[in-house]
Amino acid sequence: MKKLLLLLISIMFIAGSINYLQAQAFVGSDACKVCHSEKYGLWVDSGHPYKFTVINDGQPPVYPPEAINFQGQWMDSLGDGTQTWTDIAGVIGGYGWKARFVGQDGHLVGTAGAISSDGVGHNQFNFYGGVDYGWVDYHPTDEKIYNYGCFKCHTTGGDTLGTWLPANPTLGSFTEEGIGCESCHGPGGDHIGGPTKENIDRVYEFAHQDNAIGGLQIGDDIILPDPDQNRVNFLCGTCHNRDYKNPINSSSGFIKHHEQWDEFTHTDHFEHDMDCLTCHDPHTRTIWDGDGITKECGSCHSEQVAVTNHGASATCIDCHMPYAAKSGTQRGQSGYVGDVRSHLFTITVDTASMFTEDGAWVKDDETREASLSPAYSCLGCHNNDPDDNIPDKTLEQAVADAEDMHEPTFIAQQKDLVLGVYPNPSTGAVKISFTLSFSQNVSVEVFNSSGQLVYNANDVSSAPGMQLIVWDRTSNTGADVLPGYYLVKVSAGNLTSVQKVILMN
Ligand code: HEC
Ligand code: HEC
Ligand code: HEC
Ligand code: HEC
Ligand code: HEC
Ligand code: HEC
Ligand code: HEC
Ligand code: HEC
Repeated sequence: MKKLLLLLISIMFIAGSINYLQAQAFVGSDACKVCHSEKYGLWVDSGHPYKFTVINDGQPPVYPPEAINFQGQWMDSLGDGTQTWTDIAGVIGGYGWKARFVGQDGHLVGTAGAISSDGVGHNQFNFYGGVDYGWVDYHPTDEKIYNYGCFKCHTTGGDTLGTWLPANPTLGSFTEEGIGCESCHGPGGDHIGGPTKENIDRVYEFAHQDNAIGGLQIGDDIILPDPDQNRVNFLCGTCHNRDYKNPINSSSGFIKHHEQWDEFTHTDHFEHDMDCLTCHDPHTRTIWDGDGITKECGSCHSEQVAVTNHGASATCIDCHMPYAAKSGTQRGQSGYVGDVRSHLFTITVDTASMFTEDGAWVKDDETREASLSPAYSCLGCHNNDPDDNIPDKTLEQAVADAEDMHEPTFIAQQKDLVLGVYPNPSTGAVKISFTLSFSQNVSVEVFNSSGQLVYNANDVSSAPGMQLIVWDRTSNTGADVLPGYYLVKVSAGNLTSVQKVILMN
């Protein structure tokens, strides 16, 4: 009975939304510019408008200058390298992570069979963070088509009816390329004629809905668009989700991309009625150094600001929103860095995998709530590169270090100063490095091979994290010390660490 009722309600809502759409015309973002120039200026620099660009008359797309995407190389090496912009009907993305290209027949150029000389499909170009990661072969065996199934999330006013490309009559259509103002505010035909608050939506919940369900699914519940249209999570969630299923999809050790909503609905933040706008300004970008984040984590979590048992080299989001999701590229050498930040926030401090055994979902059951593993939160930096001077750690070590990360009592547990003395042997000044979990006074002493103190610096106040002291080899009397064996001793609290160094001429 409950199911039947839900079905009826959703049919009513679908019918309602169709009427709603017919009531007003979509007029395009440019029509909003005259009166809302500030919002327009922010939006035009963000990723949303560039989600899809229709190519007219062979003119390449134009992106904000900060979005470094190596656009100049695309036509040289897309597919078999014979393409020109006149062969391209549209570019998908190209703003933040990757670019894919639609040919004049509505298919993705370079899918279904390798067409390049090196046997690789060359159909998706990856560039996250302004680094040239080159081409990969997206869906090498399928002939992918760019229809409503993709662009319901990439354009404004998407519809299964009609077509956006005359050469292929069954693709579906849209009213504006990219995510325009009206994706989030609804059709503006009435509003531009005589603007009032009443004839435009603050939060439009019909950006697109999956008509098979008519809403968003959380567990067994289906949430339908709200006639009062106030639910931001619903709006953002229609596109920033994968397939309305409760588990969070993953593959090859990463959360799949565009699952921010799926992740967020599993968090304490969601339970406490937060929504995407608690942290995001919907008009301002977050990537390419955008300032679209309006609230610091610390504005609500002052205890963790006061105590984080780690150097300043890692911020809240480095550990709590690591790149555990992947759109285009896996980065670094740890195996744990993708290119999309996770919105799970909670870190479960154990060595277990955060994914189910088959790797298809983020684990979420009695044994482990959906959450991050220290593999992604810690090893992404600590094992990124053996030569980066960040101490390498096993997962077991990272877990031990992660425990009680924000507990003041943890301070007493610093086990090692991680003393380094180099170069060794040394012909010039000697560098002495050590790492503190919290700020304290440190003493450095140097003894010669007969055990006599030749140099010391007492109670040097030192900040948390890795610290470096350079000793220019002068003794306490001001003379240069002689070549030979010396012992460097560093003390902090009740910890001491000693290392031998050879000084040469
Ligand atoms: C001719 C000027 C004009 C144009 C064009 C215009 N607006 Fe407005 N808009 C206004 C004014 C004025 C208000 C404030 C009305 C009020 O406060 O009573 C407003 C309010 C809004 C609001 C706030 C609604 C609320 O509930 O608070 C949104 C959202 C909005 N406009 C979006 C748009 C979009 C999207 C477009 C383009 C499709 C657009 N506007 C085009 C003048 C304009
Ligand atoms: C990704 C979705 C999204 C897009 C795209 C978007 N907006 Fe908004 N906009 C919102 C949301 C959500 C709010 C409500 C903010 C709030 O309640 O704090 C909003 C608020 C507004 C307001 C109300 C003023 C205010 O700050 O309270 C105006 C005006 C507006 N948008 C205009 C525009 C215009 C013009 C465009 C296109 C240039 C645009 N928006 C594009 C989501 C969007
Ligand atoms: C349910 C909504 C949805 C569907 C369906 C969808 N996408 Fe996306 N896509 C997104 C969102 C949201 C992002 C950006 C956020 C992210 O990746 O985490 C994105 C990102 C992308 C990007 C990277 C954009 C950039 O600027 O780097 C490409 C390329 C892309 N999608 C292609 C496709 C193709 C091709 C299809 C169809 C086979 C498709 N998408 C279907 C929502 C969707
Ligand atoms: C109609 C679908 C759609 C809706 C609705 C939508 N997004 Fe997006 N969003 C996308 C797609 C697709 C991308 C990738 C754009 C690109 O890379 O060109 C994206 C990218 C982003 C980005 C990264 C790019 C940047 O500018 O920093 C942020 C942040 C974001 N969306 C936040 C939001 C928030 C917050 C909301 C709700 C207020 C929202 N989105 C609503 C589809 C959507
Ligand atoms: C508007 C206030 C607010 C902001 C901003 C905020 N949080 Fe929270 N956060 C909460 C509340 C409320 C809870 C749930 C209650 C609790 O556990 O303290 C929570 C819970 C958490 C938890 C889970 C705690 C647990 O017991 O597992 C983590 C982790 C977290 N937040 C991290 C962050 C990070 C990282 C940021 C910044 C990206 C952030 N929060 C921003 C209010 C906020
Ligand atoms: C070096 C990585 C790291 C940094 C930086 C970090 N955290 Fe954490 N945080 C953790 C770990 C690990 C846990 C889990 C500790 C545990 O369960 O024993 C945690 C737990 C939390 C919790 C859950 C409650 C608690 O105290 O255990 C909150 C809330 C939180 N962090 C917020 C923040 C905020 C806000 C910031 C920035 C000021 C921040 N964290 C910086 C690693 C970090
Ligand atoms: C607790 C704060 C918080 C909430 C709530 C939140 N975000 Fe974010 N979001 C962030 C931060 C912080 C970043 C990263 C900004 C940066 O890299 O500087 C981010 C980044 C993003 C990005 C860019 C992808 C990336 O890898 O950086 C997208 C897309 C996004 N958020 C979408 C959403 C959506 C959709 C929602 C609601 C379902 C949401 N966010 C809720 C804080 C939040
Ligand atoms: C953004 C990169 C980054 C992330 C993420 C990160 N660290 Fe670190 N960590 C560093 C750097 C750099 C140092 C050395 C300098 C310093 O302490 O600031 C360091 C030092 C440490 C040290 C002291 C030196 C040592 O060998 O023991 C510990 C302990 C530590 N990290 C534990 C963790 C744990 C546990 C996590 C995850 C919860 C984590 N780190 C996440 C970059 C990171």
